[in-house]
Amino acid sequence: MYDLYAEEILDHYKFPRNKGPMDNPDRVYHDRNPFCGDEVTFMLKVRDGVVEDVKWEGRGCTISMASASMLSEEVKGQPLEALRNWGKEKVLELLGIPLSPTRLKCALLPLKVLQVAAWGTREEGEVTSND
Ligand code: FES
Repeated sequence: MYDLYAEEILDHYKFPRNKGPMDNPDRVYHDRNPFCGDEVTFMLKVRDGVVEDVKWEGRGCTISMASASMLSEEVKGQPLEALRNWGKEKVLELLGIPLSPTRLKCALLPLKVLQVAAWGTREEGEVTSND
């Protein structure tokens, strides 16, 4: 069973969805994991409080990049309010495999970046915890 999820994770890593630049995004946030230097940027186009388009860029491990790719597929058409409420369960459900605390940090980096982007912050920062 986990093999299927592992294949899906590898597929997202090798062929990331919605990865690339965006012209004039309404929301942008960039952050990095200070322990490994991996980084993610999410860019959103928003209309009437709903995500109209999403792009992301980044570099990092298989789990962080797959998580970013999978989350990006879930975002389009979502009200900002809804994605602000996504928790780590959302990411774990998408990845579908149990994760060690270190790997969980990898998986949650894109979620944090996406959620700060949803709040409209344009600053950069560092993710220092996974709670
Ligand atoms: Fe850096 Fe996974 S090892 S985010």
